[in-house]
Amino acid sequence: MKVKNVLIALTAVAFGAGASLALAQAKPEVLVKQRQAAMTLQGKYFGPLAAMAQGKAPFNAAVVARNAGFLEALSHMPWDGFDASTKDAKSEALPLVFSDTAKFKQASENLQAAVVKLVAASKGGDEAATKAAIGGVGKTCGGCHDDFRHKS
Ligand code: HEC
Repeated sequence: MKVKNVLIALTAVAFGAGASLALAQAKPEVLVKQRQAAMTLQGKYFGPLAAMAQGKAPFNAAVVARNAGFLEALSHMPWDGFDASTKDAKSEALPLVFSDTAKFKQASENLQAAVVKLVAASKGGDEAATKAAIGGVGKTCGGCHDDFRHKS
């Protein structure tokens, strides 16, 4: 009897997992909204750093280190939202995102690599090197937008 209960419980867990996997396949409009939200947050945490690198705001090492850490997580978040199911959904993504997925993936990896460098630089205490690393991240944002996002 006990064993049977355990089996029932395990079956319930397995079905539960199946259900949550199914839920993970969100509607195309939802995926677009989520990936845009991740991009918006990247903009939120990168913007102040870009201003520092350009001399438009005073350099603040603590803010750079904090935001670099946030960006390290965020730089992994938008990409599963560019699912093939979203190809025809309304968004600013160009069709090339879905036709040249290798190039798009490369562009996302360029960002991640640049952010890793920024995190390292932000711990090094060298302002010039940190500003250069911020510039490196900015190039990967802009590079991908040039190729894969509608010009607004
Ligand atoms: C690999 C490509 C790629 C990289 C790298 C990238 N973006 Fe984007 N970004 C896009 C695409 C494509 C869109 C349009 C998405 C859509 O409309 O669904 C976008 C949209 C945006 C938006 C508008 C979001 C909205 O609400 O519509 C912002 C802000 C943004 N990106 C900021 C950034 C910043 C900051 C970085 C770098 C830290 C960055 N992106 C890196 C491809 C990229």
